[in-house]
Amino acid sequence: MCGIVGYIGKKEVVPILINGLKRLEYRGYDSAGVAVLTGNGAHSKRVLGRVAGLEDALQGNGWQTATIGIAHTRWATHGKPSEANAHPHTDCKGNIWVAHNGIVENYQELKKALIEAGHEFKSETDTEVLAHLIEAETEKTDNLFNAVRHALSHVRGAYGLAVISATEPDKIIAARNSSPLILGIGPEENLVASDASAIINLTKEVIYLDDNEIAEVTADSFRVESLEFGPHGSEKRVKHPETIEWDEAAIAKDGHAHFMHKEIFEIPEVIRNSIRGRLIVEEGRAKLGGIENHKDELRDVERVLITACGTAHVAGRVAEYMLEEYAGVPTEVDIASEFRYRKPIFGKNDLLLAISQSGETADTLAAVKEAKEKGVTTMGIVNVVGSSISRDTDFGVYNHAGPEISVASTKAFVSQLIVSSLFTLFLGRQREMSLTMGKRIAEELKQLPELVKVVLQQEDAIKAIAAKYKDMPAIMTLGRKYNAPLAAEVAIKFKELCYIPAIDLPAGEMKHGSLALIDKDFPTLAIAPVDSVYEKMKSNIEEIKARVGPIIALTTEGNDELSQYASDVIYIPKTLEMLTPIVAVVPLYLLTYHIAALKGHDIDKPRNLAKSVTVE
Ligand code: M6R
Repeated sequence: MCGIVGYIGKKEVVPILINGLKRLEYRGYDSAGVAVLTGNGAHSKRVLGRVAGLEDALQGNGWQTATIGIAHTRWATHGKPSEANAHPHTDCKGNIWVAHNGIVENYQELKKALIEAGHEFKSETDTEVLAHLIEAETEKTDNLFNAVRHALSHVRGAYGLAVISATEPDKIIAARNSSPLILGIGPEENLVASDASAIINLTKEVIYLDDNEIAEVTADSFRVESLEFGPHGSEKRVKHPETIEWDEAAIAKDGHAHFMHKEIFEIPEVIRNSIRGRLIVEEGRAKLGGIENHKDELRDVERVLITACGTAHVAGRVAEYMLEEYAGVPTEVDIASEFRYRKPIFGKNDLLLAISQSGETADTLAAVKEAKEKGVTTMGIVNVVGSSISRDTDFGVYNHAGPEISVASTKAFVSQLIVSSLFTLFLGRQREMSLTMGKRIAEELKQLPELVKVVLQQEDAIKAIAAKYKDMPAIMTLGRKYNAPLAAEVAIKFKELCYIPAIDLPAGEMKHGSLALIDKDFPTLAIAPVDSVYEKMKSNIEEIKARVGPIIALTTEGNDELSQYASDVIYIPKTLEMLTPIVAVVPLYLLTYHIAALKGHDIDKPRNLAKSVTVE
């Protein structure tokens, strides 16, 4: 995810900003930049690539007198990774500079209006509209603080923001809505950061901004107000600095022991980000920027061929059920490493859909190239903006899950399912899906962050189950319909994280061989939410119980009957059947995480594996 650092004080600002950016590098980024103010006005430098490259580019800049500035590491969401799209962004005159984390949902309409009013844009980003909006508001108001406040009143979306202006060189304005931002309070110096790790070497005294707050920070003071005006005008917020107790390593992980744990706990936010600006609930449809211009082409699609590897392939298998059941589009899913070598027979109106977190997986990329070679239309569901698959496919949708650092894919998988649901809505409403059904799916999608939060609260109970099973020699994982792929996903995690052999099966297959494995020492994880296949799953659970196999069951809250068969039961809140895997996967991630942690494994970097498999 993007990172922000800003400084105002008495010291030379450039080395402080570069140091802060280096401390943010662990979050992942594709470009970086700084903007500073000297007696001669504002200056900026931005580069595509590493902070070290920015540091080199800043050599001999002559900005030693600058003691105020902002800096940013960008993880592309709107607009490819490039120097022009790197932050900070500026207004027409180059006076106002903005570093922004988050997404401006309505940037297209704002940009159109600003262009009509004569503003000139230099990047493809949503962020640049903020600089121009502030510029426009500066002409109507007497100071930068109010200009930022008024500008933000036009914005829909998420932001953590740091703004400086050559016309008011003694302050940084900061604002927050749904994207974290803190102020660092030091002696004769103050800071702004998206993440405490950027500033912890300078101060441990911080103020956490809350949503809808705006702050003015000078070298020796700060004030915080509500962003919106109340009945008596702006509302002052009394904020006292808090001392950060964590060490630096803990701060990078936001207090979590591992990135995987942090990323699991980010899932509610990831769902919100993947959905943001893409759901029109009252029309029961999805608006997906990356494919909106290909609507007609997509209406003609007669078959979707999904290709991917590992966890992304599992997401494809869930998408297959969604697309067939709700969009009525025949769908097939293939492991990319097989797809590229067999001779798939393509039809005229086939769509090849590649799913990949990294966008760099060699086999998935090769499958895309193969399909293109045969003249098939290709689409990507990719997390990393500007990655090879996102560039090689004809069009696509980004996940907006933020960088995933842990090798085990968790939040990216959830976002792949969210985007698949949105794509199902998109295609379904072009076909036979009714408005009522479209609205139902859209409404249920919106509820998901809260449902996941409920599941996350059960961590202690799940940890106790992990302790019971950590030494098991192997496990069988079962599910049906939407949750058959989920059995495969949790099996990947048992192998990848816990180094426990795991056999995953659509539960109906159990009797065709694997049931012979069951005895009192061979546990089964049965994913059995109350849905259209629940009774079938219950029969499978009974069959295992009859052979004295220990069972961990996952089911829907309020369904108590599985406790008579299972030694342990995990409960999840009810949602639409097609969305169940999104909620059900969360406790299973926690379960495998805690088993791996109890075994003392290197969770974020499992043995023999790499985050991005760029070779065959
Ligand atoms: O970057 P991709 O989504 O293309 O990666 C695909 C797989 O390598 C990946 O999902 C892998 O299976 C995960 N490490 C599993 O947690």
